[in-house]
Amino acid sequence: MDVYIMGIESSCDETSISIVKNGHEEIATTVLTQMDTHALYGGVVPEIASRMHTENITMVLEDVLSKTDLTMNDISAIAVTYAPGLLGSLLVGVEFAKVLSLVYDKPLIATHHIAGHIYANNLVKNLEFPLLALVVSGGHTELVLMEDDYKFKVLATTLDDAIGECFDKVARVLGLPYPGGPNVEKYAKEGKPTYDLPKPMDNDELNFSFSGLKSAVINLCHNEEQRGNEIRKYDLARSFQDVAFDQIIRKTKLAIEKYDIKRVIVAGGVSASAVLREEMTILCDKMNVDLSIPPMRYCTDNATMIACAAYPQYLRKDFTDLSLRAKSQEYFFQDSE
Ligand code: KG4
Ligand code: ZN
Repeated sequence: MDVYIMGIESSCDETSISIVKNGHEEIATTVLTQMDTHALYGGVVPEIASRMHTENITMVLEDVLSKTDLTMNDISAIAVTYAPGLLGSLLVGVEFAKVLSLVYDKPLIATHHIAGHIYANNLVKNLEFPLLALVVSGGHTELVLMEDDYKFKVLATTLDDAIGECFDKVARVLGLPYPGGPNVEKYAKEGKPTYDLPKPMDNDELNFSFSGLKSAVINLCHNEEQRGNEIRKYDLARSFQDVAFDQIIRKTKLAIEKYDIKRVIVAGGVSASAVLREEMTILCDKMNVDLSIPPMRYCTDNATMIACAAYPQYLRKDFTDLSLRAKSQEYFFQDSE
């Protein structure tokens, strides 16, 4: 029998609900982004985010149902992002999911946001194991070996900052508007790599580090300002992006060689970067490795990826009850190592 999972995502500044068939086929989706509102403040304002989720979530449900002939009766389970993210934002989705589960008598599934980013790859082609997952987001920079669904072995992690966090910080220092990552990419496209920035972790270790690179950009801006020199923003964005992605590519290559990897997937918000997508494609082509990256619109936050990630949970009856709590922080890979 076909399984229709309704996914709900509200961990940051997108209110999204989707219906996904059998873990990989999107039936309907609605994503309402608050980006324009938060851009006025230069970043996500948590209080405004949760208020907007509360105001909008019922309309998002109505909208997604209007896009399909399915009704709530056809839904097999309700899945919701319970962690990590802004607590007030997560709470809106979690409590809404509980109400739907109670009113319509559907099983409730607690799904981790990072599982969503990983399982968005099922929209392209069902995951085949073993595989190497490169997880690059606002809070994660990891190389993870997956032997099976929800079976993870972390091969490498960042020793300090996550890559997305670093993009956001550099955007701020350069005075670029929110959201940081995509704007650094836009500027980098117009620039040349003329600034000499230190290459972090230029060794055989698999782990990542981004704080040194971040500090180098901050110090450079500071020093140039003090000297009264103008900063060439486009060139600095490009120089930074080149060094940041060079590290990602070098470490991924090392892991492919060391663990004799045949399949790679990319997950997380930074995989929306056209430059990273292209560099990963070149690397995997060269190394004869099968590469999967979710379609661009599923790299940023959406509920479809949550419904995809909930499917293996549904199959093993990994259900939760109304005592489910939203958590602002919860390390995803810790239980399965
Ligand atoms: O995966 P995500 O939603 O974060 C977490 O779940 O933690 O991704 C958001 C991150 C932000 O740090 C954002 O700046 C970054 O992904 N990002 C990018 C790009 N698009 C989004 N970074 C670099 N280039 C991009 N095009
Ligand atoms: Zn995300």
